[in-house]
Parts: sequence; structure tokens; C-alpha cells
Amino acid sequence: MNQIVNIPNGLPMERDAGPFDPPSEISRLRAARPVSPLVFPDGHEGWLVTGYDAVRQMMADTRFSSRLDLDVVHVPYETPGMPVATEPSPQLPGMFIAMDPPDHSRLRRRLTGAFTVKRMKQLEEHIADIVERQLDHLARLAPPVDLVKEFALPVPSLVICELLGVPYADRDSFQAHSAQFMVKDQSLQEKMGAYVALNTYLAELVTRKRATPGEDILSDLARQDDLSIEELTGIAFLLLLAGHETTANMLSLGTFALLEHPEQLTELRADPELLPGAVEELLRYLSVADIFFRYATEDLELGGETIAKGSTVVVSLLAANRDPERFENPDTLDFRRKTRGLLSFGHGVHQCLGQQLARIEMRAGFAGLLRRFPTLELAVPASEVRLRTDMNIYGVHELPVTWTDAAG
Ligand code: HEM
Repeated sequence: MNQIVNIPNGLPMERDAGPFDPPSEISRLRAARPVSPLVFPDGHEGWLVTGYDAVRQMMADTRFSSRLDLDVVHVPYETPGMPVATEPSPQLPGMFIAMDPPDHSRLRRRLTGAFTVKRMKQLEEHIADIVERQLDHLARLAPPVDLVKEFALPVPSLVICELLGVPYADRDSFQAHSAQFMVKDQSLQEKMGAYVALNTYLAELVTRKRATPGEDILSDLARQDDLSIEELTGIAFLLLLAGHETTANMLSLGTFALLEHPEQLTELRADPELLPGAVEELLRYLSVADIFFRYATEDLELGGETIAKGSTVVVSLLAANRDPERFENPDTLDFRRKTRGLLSFGHGVHQCLGQQLARIEMRAGFAGLLRRFPTLELAVPASEVRLRTDMNIYGVHELPVTWTDAAG
């Protein structure tokens, strides 16, 4: 039990157990030692947390810091595959996902009103309209088509652009930059290039909104004089990125999973009431936002282990969501499971701000897709679908699909 896991080439990421299952090495570690010491490629020691209870406990405890400050810790920000100890991630103004209370709370507080369940409910119809328009577009195309490009990415992009007041016409540029930012093994230089470009674009946008605010979330924030332009830019950056990459990958990988589980798909088609439960279960089963980092600000106990102050701690939400100690038959996709306590949106003070929005988009997205395309199927063998093992958010690069008749 005392051996240290040596991971010479980064965390195991290859989906050797199947496109939807955790890497087998991760599952093995969870069974052997849910809080495992590990050695990073540069030789420094840290921990990998894969057990449900330990992940939940860690995320609830802000002594496990989200700050990514090189003076204190080996900074993992750019590469969930592996922290790079020598290259600092600057503390970025406005990026409250990488802050601790009270800095974190000061910024997050300003947004909670915009993302309440009630506000999101009010948007439901509008989001359903956006989905329908995108499905009209899809139905006009001659199959086979790439579902990512034509549906899964546009829907959340359209929604978040509208909410934030970012012109959707600029999507080519910001989608390309954010995609660059998501590549795991991208050099720091390239990442910084994409970061600077997106940041410059958003800084100009929020500056304009401060001068002439409109009716959108960024304008509401721009009206608050005590937020600097740098902070506004950082918040815009975080919301724009978090708001489309994650949901887009849930929609495309979720569709892939549905097509690969025909019995579940048939049940869902027959009983649309299953949909909310199906979305929760897909969130658990797929956990596209998998790897997150914290560091210990003091010596801390976790899962019976002592985590020394300053240690980098890596968590796998996918592994936690597949923990047999918490979920019965965790590797089975089961829409009747009544999934509760999933960790796909994180836990604790950083728990996903956009989770209600994401749920609404997914419910509308899957419902519309299944209704309008009753004969939807993969246009290539499943083994040829390119998996995003190289990206920070898991999913598929493309999903070639086809159909014989689309409903109006
Ligand atoms: C935070 C997942 C959609 C905005 C998070 C975290 C997770 C997550 C796991 C916690 C990060 C941490 O603890 O370090 C997801 C998934 C989504 C999704 C799986 C889609 C299925 C969205 C959407 C938005 C959004 C649509 C829209 C604005 C955010 C923000 C945070 C966050 C702002 C940071 C919260 C904080 O630090 O207080 N998300 N997210 N997310 N998410 Fe999401």
C-alpha cells in the first residue's frame, strides 16, 4: 500500500476500456488506493484522488486551494495531463474559478442572480427556439454531417453569446482560440498566443459595454464601477469558455453514447419523461469535465492519507462518478437510476455556476434531436470516432451522423 504511483508520461488518459469509460489504470488506482501518492514527470510529488468520498470531501474544503500560484505550488493550470512546474500561470484577474474565498466570493456573488434556477427557467422557451432553429439548419443538410460542427457546438455557443452579449458573428475567432486553449499538450507559447488574442477581443468588448451598456450579463457587470476592465475581461473569458466547450461536448459525446446504447435510446424515445433523468445519468456517466487541481495550503487528512502542505492534488471527477462504493453498477448507463449526488459539476464553493443552464440546453438539445431525427445513426464505425483524449474537456472531435428522414 505504500508504493508511490509513478506516472512518467502524464496521467493515464487513453480510453483503453472504451470511449465512455475511465482509463483502466485510473479505475485500478481507485480500487487500490482512492487517494494515491504520485510522482509527476518533473519529479515532484503529489496526489491523485479518484474515490467518490475523498473527491467530495476535498472539493468541499477550501483549504485545498484553487489558486494557481507558482510561488506556492507547482502550477498545473495549462495541462491537466501534467503540471509543468517551471512555467507559471499568472493569477488572472476576474478568473474566479482559480481563486479562493474571499476573492472568489466577491466575484461569484455578482453572477449568482443571473444564473438562478428561476432565471434559467425563464429562458427555457428561448433556448428551445435556438435548438429548433439549429435543428432546421441540420435538417436542410445532406447527410452525412458532423454533428459537432452543425449542432452540438453552435447551440451552446449561440446561447452563451446571447446571454453575455458577445456577437455570435465573431464565433470563428473565439471558438478557434478557445479550442487552442483546450489542447492539453499545447506549448505554453501557443496557449499564451490564444489567450492574448481572446483576451484582447474581450477587453475591447467589455470596454464598449462599459461605455454603452446593453441588456446582457456582461453589460450588467460593466455597470458596476468597482469591477476593473481586467476583471470584467477575465469574467467574460471564463463564462464564454466554460459556457460552450463543456455543454457542446456533453451534447456530442452524449449523442454518441445514446447511439451506442440502443436499448436505453429506445426506452428514451418511447418515454420522453425519462429525459431529465437521462441527462443526469449522461452527466454522471460521461463526466466530460474530468480532471481538476487543487493544492494543500496546510497539512491535511484525506481518505486516511496525510497530504503535506504545498502538495498538488489532482482529482478525477469521472473516476469518482464511477465509484462502485457510491453508485451501484457504476459502469452501466441506466436512465432509470435516479442519479443523485453526481460530481460532474464539481462540489463546494466552485460548483458549476452554469449547471442549470447546461441542463436546460441538454434537455432541449437531446429532446429535439431525437424527435426530429428518428433514424439518426453513426455514419462511421464507432471505432473511427475521434476521441478528445488530447483535450482538457473530453468528448469527440467530430461525430459523423446520418439519417434517412427528418421530421419537420
Ligand atoms: C465550474 C462542469 C457548463 C460556467 C465548473 C466546475 C465543473 C463544471 C466541474 C467546477 C470547477 C472547479 O471546482 O474547479 C461543467 C459541465 C458543464 C458546465 C460538465 C456542462 C455540461 C457550464 C455552463 C456555464 C458554466 C453552461 C455557463 C456560464 C462555470 C463557471 C464555473 C464553473 C463560471 C466556475 C465557478 C466557480 O469557480 O465558482 N463547471 N460546467 N459551466 N462552470 Fe461549469
